[in-house]
Amino acid sequence: MSTRSLPPMRVALILAFVATVAVGCRAQAPERQPVGGADTVGNSLAPTSRSRIPIQSFSQDGAVVYQEGPESPDGTGRYYLGREIARVMSHRGAAWLERPDREREERPEVLINALGLEADDVVADLGAGTGYFTFRIAPLVPQGRVYAVDIQTEMLRIIEDRAETEGFSNVAPVLGTETGPGLRSSSTDLTLLVDSYHEFSHPAEMLAAIYDATRPGGRLVLVEYRAEDPDVPIRRLHKMTEEQVRLEVETAGFRFVENLDVLPQQHLLIFERPE
Ligand SMILES: C[S@@+](CC[C@H](N)C(=O)[O-])C[C@H]1O[C@@H](n2cnc3c(N)ncnc32)[C@H](O)[C@@H]1O
Repeated sequence: MSTRSLPPMRVALILAFVATVAVGCRAQAPERQPVGGADTVGNSLAPTSRSRIPIQSFSQDGAVVYQEGPESPDGTGRYYLGREIARVMSHRGAAWLERPDREREERPEVLINALGLEADDVVADLGAGTGYFTFRIAPLVPQGRVYAVDIQTEMLRIIEDRAETEGFSNVAPVLGTETGPGLRSSSTDLTLLVDSYHEFSHPAEMLAAIYDATRPGGRLVLVEYRAEDPDVPIRRLHKMTEEQVRLEVETAGFRFVENLDVLPQQHLLIFERPE
């Protein structure tokens, strides 16, 4: 409808209404979404009913591993060592991972430089998504390999297509499972988890499998938005404190090396599998 045919008063009222709605929406806008909005993968672990009876999972030695508790809007209601596990980001949010502002916001080149990679390193980019880090790492390990692991075939297809188009012969897409990356024992020099660990549905099993896949002396690097910093504009379940990451990763047997304070919004936590 053209506003030219409307009387001026009516046009003014319409504009005022549109402006009010726009301001209202802005006021209610959620924190910047790390996961393509509420568009998350249907998580088979999310409880189908809001039962108040705690559901517990047990390890082989009888200890409680996971607990069910209150479910946050972007959470699973499943808890590990006191932390609610976030829902998995859907491949439909893939464009968010490749957003142009990301380089300025996260400084991926600083992250990659801090890894100190060797030309023959074998790296697992675990929870690789669209391969944002896979394709930045691959040129630095020309005699090595990057395993781009994800549980969503749609993400792996994006990586496969790009590797083929751009001629990356040392990138190997790998379909993992919720409990492990499916890599051989002692096969990796470094496993990189950027913004993915907090949404692993089975963190205990994943860490045990990563430990097994890492060669003795090899590294595990976690990059997570800093939960200690309220100014980091990411939803709470998609941020982690250093204390919580260390609790979970050290419980799996990794040795904490250091937290490199070089990224604007994220922890860069280095762990090592003891020799
Ligand atoms: C927020 S995205 C981050 C992607 C990429 N690391 C990046 O920074 O651009 C998290 C990814 O982890 C994947 N993911 C979730 N749970 C996983 C698991 N257990 N094993 C492998 N990948 C997983 C999701 O499918 C998703 O692609």
